[in-house]
Amino acid sequence: MCGIVGYLGEKEKKAILLEGLQELEYRGYDSAGIAIIEHHQLKHYKAIGKLSNLKEKTKHFTSTGFGISIGHTRWATHGKPTELNAHPHIGAYSYVVHNGIIENYQLLKAQLIQEGITFVTQTDTEVIVHLFEHHSKQTSTPFEAFEKTIGQLEGAYAILLISELAPDTIFFAKNGSPMLVGFEGDDVYFASSDTPIIGRAKEVHYLADGEYGYATNQAVALFDATGTKAFTKQPLPTDKALAQKDGYRFFMEKEIYEQSHIISETMMGRVLEETIHFEELEENFFDGISAIKICACGTSYHSALAASYLFERMVKVRCSVEIASEFRYKEPLLTHDTLFVTISQSGETADTLKALKMAKQAGLKSLSICNVDNSSIVRESDCAILTRAGIEKGVASTKAFATQTMVLWMLALTMGEHKQTITPTTLAQEITAMRQTPKSLQVTDRLHAKLNRLSKRYLHGHGFFFIGRDIFYPLALEGALKLKEISYLHAEGYPAGEMKHGPIALADSRLFTIALMPKSMHYEKIKSNVEELSARDTTICAISPEPFELADDFIQTHFSTHPMLEFFEMMVITQLLALEISVRLGNDVDMPRNLAKSVTVE
Ligand code: F6R
Repeated sequence: MCGIVGYLGEKEKKAILLEGLQELEYRGYDSAGIAIIEHHQLKHYKAIGKLSNLKEKTKHFTSTGFGISIGHTRWATHGKPTELNAHPHIGAYSYVVHNGIIENYQLLKAQLIQEGITFVTQTDTEVIVHLFEHHSKQTSTPFEAFEKTIGQLEGAYAILLISELAPDTIFFAKNGSPMLVGFEGDDVYFASSDTPIIGRAKEVHYLADGEYGYATNQAVALFDATGTKAFTKQPLPTDKALAQKDGYRFFMEKEIYEQSHIISETMMGRVLEETIHFEELEENFFDGISAIKICACGTSYHSALAASYLFERMVKVRCSVEIASEFRYKEPLLTHDTLFVTISQSGETADTLKALKMAKQAGLKSLSICNVDNSSIVRESDCAILTRAGIEKGVASTKAFATQTMVLWMLALTMGEHKQTITPTTLAQEITAMRQTPKSLQVTDRLHAKLNRLSKRYLHGHGFFFIGRDIFYPLALEGALKLKEISYLHAEGYPAGEMKHGPIALADSRLFTIALMPKSMHYEKIKSNVEELSARDTTICAISPEPFELADDFIQTHFSTHPMLEFFEMMVITQLLALEISVRLGNDVDMPRNLAKSVTVE
């Protein structure tokens, strides 16, 4: 996810910007840039790759005296991670940095092109700076032009804009993407999160959606749709490490909580009123495709398995899923009517990459679903869809899984629409459900406290079974993987109907069963599977909207008619349960033993 910093004042600006961007590195980025106006002179520097490249480019530059400055680390969403696409974006006399996605940028861009404006990047952001300059020709103040500009933007944004028209002013606006304003004497700071300004600003105002304004060394003014507003300043936290985790104890915990918000980024600009649109896919992308093969590892493999149910049910195409390390040595039969899909958070997993190369060599069309743009898997694929989860720091994958599953659900609907295997009514119902996903992913204090309380009962015993049916079977696999990764307890995921074919032999009071019992899918079937386990004295933790009297522990979820909403809600519960058990066992949640975040070896 992109990071933004800004500074207005007398201090040396380059150092403040670069150090600030360094603090935002954890958000992930593929290019960076800064722009400064002082003594009426405009300067900017951009570089792809690490911040060290930008530092090298700016090593002979220092700023002096009063000035305004903005900086940005970019996590590519529209357009490749090139220097041209890096922020700040430049108009004739203004610069902008932006975090988020402008959903209506294509429309605005088309209008501006008609006015004779030339665009030089592939980004959605560039439209902001041109729109501002376009309006500033007709308005009496630059601030009016800025107000008009943000009034036309749809989507999510945190924006800082500077212009030679107002060389002592930083314009700012926030809607959907994070930004705060820091204060210290006459100095004003902006940032995407606390860390860049800890130790610099004393007080902070966390901008709310819809707030915007301007800062000069005379005044900082705040507005929203109702008019002028007062800042609600609060003291800044002083602990940087804690601030990086946004106050959460672990990155994994933060990442579980942020799923509800992140999933909207995954959908943004893609889930439209009546259809789902991936601008990454050409119109005829699915032509000639009558089968899908998905290859992935670990958690990504689990999202693939869940998707295979959706593809066969909704698109009526054969969908096979293979663990990449198995696929590569089995001499697989590949046919040209098969779309080869790879799924990877990192985009660097050696086995998945090799599987992709094999499929390409066999002449298959390839699509990757990935969280890291310009990664090896993305570069190697014919086409890539980014999950937009932002950098995932916890080794145990959480938000990557949620966003992969969401992209796959969206993809199944897109393909179903293309192949006319789903009706417009079904599509509309699916989109309605999809829009409720952020709610299903929310963690309430009550739920978290309950899982914390429950966790103390699951520290011993001789193992866990996670069971589920249909898409809840891959979720059971994923729940078991999460638990074993960070608790080091033995856990298996099983299709509920398979227990009586062997695993039930392990059943006794020291066997823990985490039963995924959605109401919208095969409830009665799974209920009887759980009853069989209960009859063997297994300790049952049931997760369901429907109270289940045989459960030793019961975690109640919300009733929902759509299985995917139940899926996402139960996913959060299994993630948090694993986390709380791991914490009680005193393990390092973010860096579990023996594991690496990116597995670049066979
Ligand atoms: C589990 C986990 C791993 C990865 C696997 C594949 O929490 O993170 O199982 O899912 O190593 O990695 P990617 O998705 O980067 O290809």
